[in-house]
Amino acid sequence: MKKNIVVIPGDGIGSEVTGQAIKVLNAVAEHYDHEFIYKYCLIGADAIEKTGSPLPKETIEISLESDAILLGTVGHPKYDNDPNATIRPEQGLLGIRKVLQLYCNIRPLTIYPALAHLSPLKEGQLAGVDLVIYRDLIGGIYFGKKETSEDGLSAFDTCNYTVSEIERVTHLAFKNAQIRRKKLTLIDKASVLETSRLWRKVVQKLASEYADVTVDYMFVDNAAAQMILNPKQFDVILTENLFGDIISDEASVLSGSQGLAPSASVGNITALFEPVHGPRHQEAGKDISNPIGSILSAAMMLDYFQLHKEAKRVREAVSWTLNNKFVTKDIDPINFYFTSTLGELIADYVGHRITDEVNHENIELRKSTVI
Ligand code: IPM
Ligand code: MN
Repeated sequence: MKKNIVVIPGDGIGSEVTGQAIKVLNAVAEHYDHEFIYKYCLIGADAIEKTGSPLPKETIEISLESDAILLGTVGHPKYDNDPNATIRPEQGLLGIRKVLQLYCNIRPLTIYPALAHLSPLKEGQLAGVDLVIYRDLIGGIYFGKKETSEDGLSAFDTCNYTVSEIERVTHLAFKNAQIRRKKLTLIDKASVLETSRLWRKVVQKLASEYADVTVDYMFVDNAAAQMILNPKQFDVILTENLFGDIISDEASVLSGSQGLAPSASVGNITALFEPVHGPRHQEAGKDISNPIGSILSAAMMLDYFQLHKEAKRVREAVSWTLNNKFVTKDIDPINFYFTSTLGELIADYVGHRITDEVNHENIELRKSTVI
């Protein structure tokens, strides 16, 4: 299979983590006889610095022609601390999502027993957790009319949804629920918000087309509590843009490290794959970040290409590293492996270059000497 992949490393640790995902994709290409062609583009603070725009035209043009996009991370503290900045890195990310009509963001949460001790939850609460969040990505308060008054004394953001915007992501969530544990939870604030009431109406109406799926409804404040108290109850979560942003960050830390969490954003033109974590500037350039979020995003890309065997192999490789304590500093601050080393190990495993008889001694040599 031949695929054109656009790589947009972005800011912070973006280039380090996407670099490892590419090693893994290259191992897949070589071992399973595919051809992945990469083109590099700019976004975010990196793009502002080089071109003046957080989303250069070229990035859009090349992305529109791609089979898929592998994105790193977007954001820079310089802008976070400057509320007056009119050009901001995040405009690049929001812009590409909108232009490519990536209306559905999918964020699975996988629990790895080997990391249970790092989870903020107790082991009993963690066992059996397996959920996926379907978040609308190009509607709601993120994209509604917003303004600050001329005197600077007031501001507003508006939240709008249309029935068709809700329907398209809802269908995808229901379809996924049908091949999972057949439960869908809509998270909203229908007791207060008009848009949430519209979400409920649409979901209630579509539920009859998916009679095998049990639907329940939960207010977002309660959902935030339930995510900690009893995350096992969730199978597929469906929600609007801002609630999805918040709930998915909360879910992403339950595994023990946010660095593990991948995401896929899909629409009708192409699809974009990026880790859930942010740019983590404090780690940038140190080769210490966890590349697994990006690598598992690449696995989601392989599934999107219908390369399910290959995606499964990548996931097995990730589990193998975690089970054998080949981990980055976020997971073990003393005995850790570098970002680049972990990328190589996962790629080697995927390409069957590491046999079952693991040569631990050899791998030990690649461990960090920085303690
Ligand atoms: C995410 C991020 C983005 C969002 C930011 C960087 C604009 O937090 O992908 O979750 O809020 O969607
Ligand atoms: Mn977020």
